[in-house]
Amino acid sequence: MEVVHAIQERRSINFFEPGRDLPDEKIRELLDVARLAPSSMNLQPWRVVVVKDAERKKTLRKCSFDQPKVEEASAVLIMVADPVAVEENIDPVLKSWVELGYMKPEMVETYTGMAAALYSTADSITRKFFAVKNTSLFAMNLMIAAKGMGLETHPMDGFDENSVKREFQIPDDKIIPMLIALGYLKSGMTLLPRAFRKAVDSFVTFNTYRGGT
Ligand SMILES: Cc1cc2nc3c(=O)[nH]c(=O)nc-3n(C[C@H](O)[C@H](O)[C@H](O)COP(=O)(O)O)c2cc1C
Repeated sequence: MEVVHAIQERRSINFFEPGRDLPDEKIRELLDVARLAPSSMNLQPWRVVVVKDAERKKTLRKCSFDQPKVEEASAVLIMVADPVAVEENIDPVLKSWVELGYMKPEMVETYTGMAAALYSTADSITRKFFAVKNTSLFAMNLMIAAKGMGLETHPMDGFDENSVKREFQIPDDKIIPMLIALGYLKSGMTLLPRAFRKAVDSFVTFNTYRGGT
């Protein structure tokens, strides 16, 4: 499917085909495309917990204000933003840049310092924004890629983050920007037309910012 068409056709699906299996291999294929998302200094601060097991989905539904799609979707992806990704990934990222000729070895120290200056310490608000911003770009990439692969999605922030962390052993310093339900549209269901979108001229100005009232 052409990219613009996939964006136009993507919808947040409320009714998934319950009990329809989505093979692990297909989910890996999707993640393999989604991971090509851009990220700050290529640091890729995302992790994903794939919830497919029926009992685990039931548990996740309880953490998600009882949203039925959490149980009915073939899988639900817990998107995890990892503030520690700067420390964890900076070395392999810079190593690959040197190896591929993006930069000279003597620049490694400068770039390491730049990352520390830009993204502050692992427990800072700056770092949380960094992790959530990049994980959200990854999530959007994933939803468009899913559409292109014939799959449907639904992003959700209707869940209790602490309960999800507790039930799925996600460490306290991580952030969960959203869950993404993944699967197939329930047969016989048709979607309502896409709801209100702001007109381009209501949010764009050129060359300088001019807000509303
Ligand atoms: C970060 C995020 C969180 C959302 N959380 C929920 C949710 O918890 N439950 C829900 O039914 N829809 C949720 N939505 C779906 C939105 O309501 C939906 O994207 C919006 O109405 C536009 O519809 P469309 O995606 O079909 O274009 C969420 C969307 C985003 C991007």
